[in-house]
Amino acid sequence: MKYNKIYKNNSNVWGDDPNELLQKIYNQAEAGSEFLDLGCGQGRDSLFMLKNGFKVTAVDNSREGIKKIKESVKVEKLSISDINLLCKNIKIFKIEKNKYTIINAFNSLQFLFKKDALKLIKEIKKAIKKEGYIIISGFTAKTAAIDSRCFFKPQELKKIFSDFNIISYEEKMILDKGHPGKPKPHKHNVVKMIAQKIKIR
Ligand SMILES: C[S@@+](CC[C@H](N)C(=O)[O-])C[C@H]1O[C@@H](n2cnc3c(N)ncnc32)[C@H](O)[C@@H]1O
Repeated sequence: MKYNKIYKNNSNVWGDDPNELLQKIYNQAEAGSEFLDLGCGQGRDSLFMLKNGFKVTAVDNSREGIKKIKESVKVEKLSISDINLLCKNIKIFKIEKNKYTIINAFNSLQFLFKKDALKLIKEIKKAIKKEGYIIISGFTAKTAAIDSRCFFKPQELKKIFSDFNIISYEEKMILDKGHPGKPKPHKHNVVKMIAQKIKIR
């Protein structure tokens, strides 16, 4: 598994700060409520939410990522009973319905086949509470086949969430300055969305 080696030998691979979409909305959700992080990596978002008083479920199929989070919880003397650390495949992870106030899938869906990512999105739409927020950062491509890795077509994610209130939505090209595993600068076409479940549904 590619990320085990990377996470074992490097800290803060995806940065020190929580992702920018989470920073924007986390304080709209009630502290003490449930946060789900799908493909949590080394836990920059999960640890941030734990520090801010949320109950966290952090899922990643890299055992080294999960191990790093456990270590950080210990070193930073955070509450281990408020974080559920799961080394699991998000493709088959059973998500409890109507439980979470924020669900975060930040740069993790592109590792799934498109059909599996769409299935997972259906599940997270059921798992988010009314007025809760779903954060997705994913990759885009003009043509996106259903039987290959998950790339979203232009405006596709917005259509999928047409029954939600779109708080922010952006498709753009970003320059990644490089990271362990892919150290040379490279570009990604991305979509970044925050969607809120509408209350009356
Ligand atoms: C680009 S990293 C992003 C990590 C984190 N969300 C962040 O932004 O810091 C993607 C993560 O998704 C995880 N991942 C990939 N496929 C997965 C799967 N099928 N189930 C669970 N985690 C997966 C990888 O192990 C990796 O940690």
